[in-house]
Amino acid sequence: MSFELGMMAAAGETGGSFWMPPEISTSAAGVDWIFYFIFWISLFFFLLIVGLMTYFVVRYRRPKGVEAEGAPSHNMVLEVTWSVIPLILVIVIFYLGFKGFMDLFTSPQNAYEVLVTGQKWKWLFQYPNGYVDENLHVPVDVPVRLVMSSEDVIHSLYIPAFRVKRDVVPGRYTKAWFQATQAGDYQIFCAEYCGKSHSDMLAKVVVEKPGDFEKWLEKASNFLDTMPPAEAGARLYKTRGCAQCHSIDGTSGIGPTFKGVFGETVVMVGGAKVAVDENYLRESINEPQVRVVAGYQPVMPTFKGRLKDKEITAIIEYIKSLER
Ligand code: CUA
Repeated sequence: MSFELGMMAAAGETGGSFWMPPEISTSAAGVDWIFYFIFWISLFFFLLIVGLMTYFVVRYRRPKGVEAEGAPSHNMVLEVTWSVIPLILVIVIFYLGFKGFMDLFTSPQNAYEVLVTGQKWKWLFQYPNGYVDENLHVPVDVPVRLVMSSEDVIHSLYIPAFRVKRDVVPGRYTKAWFQATQAGDYQIFCAEYCGKSHSDMLAKVVVEKPGDFEKWLEKASNFLDTMPPAEAGARLYKTRGCAQCHSIDGTSGIGPTFKGVFGETVVMVGGAKVAVDENYLRESINEPQVRVVAGYQPVMPTFKGRLKDKEITAIIEYIKSLER
């Protein structure tokens, strides 16, 4: 085990090893234990078999001019031994693996629930009060259940520090759970190749100290009242799905770009010209099919009832702030 300890020292004070990130959830130690159990068994048998093979090749090589004798029939004791020992080992490995899998799969009933959406190419986390954030904040020492689905293709939520990885699939819900053991920021990855910006599909899980989580959630949920409207709008742009179709860099997507559109006169399907002001933007959010910009399909869903007036105002202020 000294090799492993050496690697842990080399990895610094993060608490992780050369092979593994730090263990920050209640299930991490069990996952790592099974990993090392299988690792050392594999290493032991690899060295034993390759070592014996090399030794036998040298020791019993056929000298020049000697004819090969017929091979001996078989050795019952040897064959039973090398069948029974691996059989016992794989049964033990199956038992430990299956037990660990069921523990990871079955969340405690009282777990705090967060809804997770994967989409090209970001994660959204929705809390019980409806607030949506781009990062996952959780309280320390509390079991958290993630109920996950995808808007488009298959993604996979991966939190190495928690040893949690679960596919996020369109058209169904998958679940994962963990109980974080230490406050801090940890990385979230997407572990399923999902297209061009797969490697940018990153987020943080922020494990909050006792009491801080509730404070954070209350503050974050009130961002409409505490942030400048344009800033709040920038946040809504990312968390409410605008970014899927409307760019902010001038490129055309499924819908027109938001960049510099405010104050412009735009030609609609049918030839009418419309000055883009607050009221046109508001109408486009609530009844997007009424006046569609020429060159685009009328595919935008209505946000009537899905966005509060305050939120619509914030988004309009954000669009105004995006100058050409
Ligand atoms: Cu989402 Cu890769």
